[in-house]
Amino acid sequence: MTERAHMRLGAFLYPTGYHVAAWRHPDVPADAGVNISHYTELARTAERGRFDFLFLPDSSALRGTDMEALSRTAIRYVAQFEPLTLLGALSAATERIGLTATVSSTYTEPYHAARMIASLDHISAGRAGWNLVTSQNPYEAYNFGLTEHPEHGARYARAEEYAQVVKGLWDTWSDEAWVRDKEAGQFFDPDGVRPLGHRGDHFTVRGPLNMPRTPQGHPVTIQAGSSGPGRELAAATADVVFTAQQSVAGAQAFTADVKARAEKHGRSRESVQVMTGIFPFVGRTMAEAEDKFECLQDLIDPQVGLSLLSSELGHVDLSGYDLDGPLPEIPPSNSGKSRSELLAKMAAEEGLSIRQLYKRVAGSRGHRQVVGTAESVADELADWFRSGAADGFIVMPPQLPSSLADFTDLVVPELQRRGLFRTEYEGTTLRDHLGLGRPAR
Ligand SMILES: Cc1cc2nc3c(=O)[nH]c(=O)nc-3n(C[C@H](O)[C@H](O)[C@H](O)COP(=O)(O)O)c2cc1C
Repeated sequence: MTERAHMRLGAFLYPTGYHVAAWRHPDVPADAGVNISHYTELARTAERGRFDFLFLPDSSALRGTDMEALSRTAIRYVAQFEPLTLLGALSAATERIGLTATVSSTYTEPYHAARMIASLDHISAGRAGWNLVTSQNPYEAYNFGLTEHPEHGARYARAEEYAQVVKGLWDTWSDEAWVRDKEAGQFFDPDGVRPLGHRGDHFTVRGPLNMPRTPQGHPVTIQAGSSGPGRELAAATADVVFTAQQSVAGAQAFTADVKARAEKHGRSRESVQVMTGIFPFVGRTMAEAEDKFECLQDLIDPQVGLSLLSSELGHVDLSGYDLDGPLPEIPPSNSGKSRSELLAKMAAEEGLSIRQLYKRVAGSRGHRQVVGTAESVADELADWFRSGAADGFIVMPPQLPSSLADFTDLVVPELQRRGLFRTEYEGTTLRDHLGLGRPAR
């Protein structure tokens, strides 16, 4: 049993939804990524569902250079708002829900991040959080004066120092420093400020931050890497960890490992909370849920499906083959050996055609898929939560806005009935929602 009273829920918002073909569905606004009314509706729906926070994934580059392939998909960061700017607007449209987004430690400076996230924390009265990523998308390099994506270990070394600088800057002012005494003519108390004076391998930052300490003191830090260095960074610095897990056993091992690492850093097991990705199709009946799933699967463009499958198989050219015929012999791959072998084996054993195989790959892309009723989805989430596989879930609605509304209106009430999720926000800040105290300075 986990010690937690109830599970955490985050709403993962790709503009049109997580499914690769969602943008083609008649109920989905195709311009979602630059449609503020769409995002406002999503934020209010998630808040109505008492989600801990909403989360905006990000990348500062299109994910790829093949314009023909990119032109047929909406999930490769081809058209969406800069997320911190968007969160500023969403903070004015909501009152309680946490507001979080990705920030790349590889392609930004920590001073910028510290200042922007602190601003959002003030604007939203303590609801800000950031997902510190080292950047998954190698194409970002070309927009920042580099000829290639820095190596994995080097990215994580920079990320660790980056997090230290950001948190250090957030602590450069005491909470009492801002006297703003008009009578005495004193705006702030000079004893309440200290420069940061950071000098490290990657950054030299004098500080202080030109911004008062924020409502949360430290806005919430999320980390989403699952490799050894990713887990280490999470254990040292993160309040929340995102991960993709397929089985209860795998998730239990991951969660136990991250919490054990946190303890080695002198932190409690509860201070780092693991949230696994869940890709849910929810219906009032099982048949309705399956219909929703099949409807999106049927919209997968063969060119998009083939391009996703080909990259999973180590960039094999499948263009000359019959989509409804078997997978040809796949040559050994340098890039993704185990993944490529796994898929070839699955296709052979189950007698899958190329089309059937890409449909398997294109939907959840590594995250746990559930297709069911409110009861069956709640059963599965309860099982993961109670067995210590996860502290909560980052819900990836397949299409937006409808799949978020389905989860909010069907699954959330079922979780609430079972005492597994809050019926009202207990506090006002994101740290309150997550049961995290406010760090002293
Ligand atoms: C729920 C979730 C959300 C993520 N969001 C982003 C994102 O917005 N931008 C990004 O570059 N990477 C994102 N990632 C990817 C991770 O940052 C990381 O690159 C990836 O998990 C590989 O990490 P590793 O190299 O430590 O294994 C996300 C991962 C997960 C599980």
